Amino acid sequence: MKAIVFEEHGDLDVLAYTDVETPEPGPGEVRVAVEACSLNYHDVFTRRGMEGIKTPLPMIPGCDAAGRVDAIADDVTGWSAGDRVMVDPVQWNDDGRILMIGDTRWGAYAEYVIVDARQLIALPDEVSAIDASCLPVAYGTAHRMLFTRGRVEAGETVFVLGASGGVGTCCVLLAKMAGAHVVAAAGSAEKCRALEALGADETVDYSTDDIARFTRERTGSLFAGGGWDVVVNFTGGDTWTKTLRMVKRGGRLLTCGATAGFEPKTDIRFIWTAEMDIRGSNGWQRDDLEALVAMVVDGRLQPVVDTVLPLSEGVEAMRLLEERRFFGKVVIGNSASCGEFRLRRNVGQGIGETAQ
Ligand SMILES: NC(=O)c1ccc[n+]([C@@H]2O[C@H](COP(=O)([O-])OP(=O)(O)OC[C@H]3O[C@@H](n4cnc5c(N)ncnc54)[C@H](OP(=O)(O)O)[C@@H]3O)[C@@H](O)[C@H]2O)c1
Repeated sequence: MKAIVFEEHGDLDVLAYTDVETPEPGPGEVRVAVEACSLNYHDVFTRRGMEGIKTPLPMIPGCDAAGRVDAIADDVTGWSAGDRVMVDPVQWNDDGRILMIGDTRWGAYAEYVIVDARQLIALPDEVSAIDASCLPVAYGTAHRMLFTRGRVEAGETVFVLGASGGVGTCCVLLAKMAGAHVVAAAGSAEKCRALEALGADETVDYSTDDIARFTRERTGSLFAGGGWDVVVNFTGGDTWTKTLRMVKRGGRLLTCGATAGFEPKTDIRFIWTAEMDIRGSNGWQRDDLEALVAMVVDGRLQPVVDTVLPLSEGVEAMRLLEERRFFGKVVIGNSASCGEFRLRRNVGQGIGETAQ
C-alpha cells in the first residue's frame, strides 16, 4: 500500500510517500480502508520526537481515521467488509497497555490501517468520512475539556486561545452551542474574521494585540471583577503566563496541551488571588465521540475543514499544519473524499492558500 512514512525523527524532510507492505489483521483486529484522515498537531510532535515518549520506527503518522472495513480476523464478530466506520485512535489492551495509531502503532496517513476491532465506531450515513475523521482527537478532546472537565455553562464568558486550529475551532463551536459568550483568539486578522463567521462573539488577533491587555480593556481590572469565566489554553509557553492574568475570580483555566512549550513560568500569586481552578483534560472517552457523531447527524455540528489533500500530498498537508496556513482541520482523503470536498464550502476554507 501507499503511505507516508518516517524512519527517523526530524523535520518535514524525514517524511516519504512510499510503498510499504499492506498489513494483515492479527487476532482481534480489522483492516480499515482509509477514506479520510485528519491531521493533528500531535502528528508533528510524533514526527519530531517527544521527550519521554518512544516511537517505534519506522512510523506512519495519523491518529484520526474514517473509512470502510476491508479485512477482518477470523475471531472478530459483528463487523462485515464494507461497513462504514470511524476509528477511536486509542487501543486499550486487557493487560493495561495503551497503544494509539499514528503514535505507537502505524497510523492512517496510508491506504489502510490495522486496528483492534474494539476501536471501531459504526458511522451513520449522514456523517461523511471527512467529517468523521475530524472528530476523535481534536473534537473529542475539546468536548471532554469544555463539558466534562470545564463544566462550561450558558451565559459564561469563554476565552479560547489558538482558536483557529483543530481543538480551537471545536471549542468555539461547542461553547457557542452551550450558550456561552465566546471570545476567540488567533494569529491573524483573516483567521479572526473566519472565527467571527463561525459564531465567535468577539475576536482578538494576538499577532498584533496583547491578550492580557485586551482582557483588561474589555472586562476591567481583575480586582474589580474583570477577566473571563473560562480561559482555554492548550498553547502553553509564554501564553500560559499571560492567561493566568485573564481568569476572573473563581473562574477556570483549562488546558489539554502545550504547543509552544510545557515548562512555562507560573506566577502563582494569580492562582490564589483569583481563587481560580486550573483543570487539566486529557483526550476523550468513547461517550465524547458518540456524542459528537450524534451532533453531526442531527446537524448541530459541522466540522470545520480547510483542505482535503490526496495521500500523495501528505507531506504538503503536514507542512500546511506546521506552518499554521490553515483554519480548522487539514485532511488527507482518498479520491472520493477529495472529490466530495471540492463541492463543499466551509468557513475559512482555503486560508492556507493566502495566510502565512
Ligand atoms: N491531551 C490531549 O489529549 C490532546 C488532544 C488533542 C490536542 N492536544 C494538544 O492541543 C494542542 C492543539 O492541537 P491541535 O491539533 O488543535 O493543533 P492545531 O490544529 O495545529 O492548532 C493549534 C493552533 O495554535 C496556534 N498556535 C499558537 N502558537 C503556536 C505554536 N507555537 N505552534 C503552532 N501553533 C501555534 C495556531 O493558530 P494561529 O496560527 O492562529 O496562531 C494553531 O493553528 C496541541 O498542543 C496538541 O498536542 C492534546
